[in-house]
Amino acid sequence: MSTQVILPRLMQIGENASQETHNVLSSLDCQRSLIVTDKMMVQLGYATRIQETLAPHGMTADVFDATVPEPTASSIQAGVEKARTGNYDCLIALGGGSAIDSAKAIAILAKHGGEIRDYKFPRIVTEAGLPVIAIPTTAGTGSEVTRFTVITDEKNDEKMLCVGVGFMPVAALIDYCLTLSLPPRVTADTGIDALTHSIESYVSKKASLYSDSQALSAMRLIGPNLRRAYHDGANKNAREAMMLGSTLAGVAFSNASVALVHGMSRPIGAFFHVPHGLSNAMLLPSVTQFSIPAASRRYAECARALGVASEQDSDEVANAKLIDELRALNEEFQVPTPEQFGIKRQAFFDKLPIMAEQALASGSPSNNPRVPSAEEIVAIYRHLW
Ligand SMILES: [Fe+2]
Repeated sequence: MSTQVILPRLMQIGENASQETHNVLSSLDCQRSLIVTDKMMVQLGYATRIQETLAPHGMTADVFDATVPEPTASSIQAGVEKARTGNYDCLIALGGGSAIDSAKAIAILAKHGGEIRDYKFPRIVTEAGLPVIAIPTTAGTGSEVTRFTVITDEKNDEKMLCVGVGFMPVAALIDYCLTLSLPPRVTADTGIDALTHSIESYVSKKASLYSDSQALSAMRLIGPNLRRAYHDGANKNAREAMMLGSTLAGVAFSNASVALVHGMSRPIGAFFHVPHGLSNAMLLPSVTQFSIPAASRRYAECARALGVASEQDSDEVANAKLIDELRALNEEFQVPTPEQFGIKRQAFFDKLPIMAEQALASGSPSNNPRVPSAEEIVAIYRHLW
């Protein structure tokens, strides 16, 4: 059996990679870009810095700075209008996963029209939108190298997963320097998202030898460096390892898919506005515990790649150490329970059936080594309380 692998055409990786934006645009024959970003990136001067690399080369870059965390169909609408009418030949997605996901959706809608819900899974989006050049500023979502975007439909609070080569950026500039000033909370949430991508792609039913090699490399980078980046944000070695680990984890899950954690995480985000990495963190220990019986060798390999178990440890011991590590990380990073986050118990429990339904509809749980029923998903949600 063979596996299809989808990647950006060009990646610029390492210290100050984002300062090479003009070279990347020139390689792609792009001249007139729209930077799709958020107000924080403008405030930090990151958008201006990109514009300054382009101007001496006769390239222009307008700015759309109204992307929001956990983007919605309406939050991207102004960006679609601007991209449609502005005579741009590419979009530069600058920011965390939300900015990059927004840019991916804008790129398709500006060129092909319609609404983003028209493009949601199970439709596979093969249309080419405006070329997207992604510059991530967090080490987490891996969106710069994935064929996915997630946009919330505010009409029914559904986080819509959109899939296809049409959402793959043409280029990614992976510059860990942009993460040096991230606060610990964001470092933890996005870092656990990357950790989740690497584990889920390794245990996914769609895993291949190719995605395994990316996932294991990601775990070897993330395992020893997540805490270091959290406690000492200025540590360049830790930031560089986390950034590359996040990108490799993105490559892994873009080609092997995520599984039950992500399937269950999206409804928590959609209904209760929990940031994506945080809802993953809430779920990761319980879902791993649930799934280990169906893939105990694979989870043991995760524990070894992360550096929490040794080659001498039996799979059973390694699995126990993995669960301990995931719980310890949540404690150290002060990951709240849903209750501590401020979610009302009744509201959470009332939504459980629809959350389970949305989780299953996203397709992700069917990639899990142990495929849950709706009742089992509800039981795991209850267990978080
Ligand atoms: Fe994720």
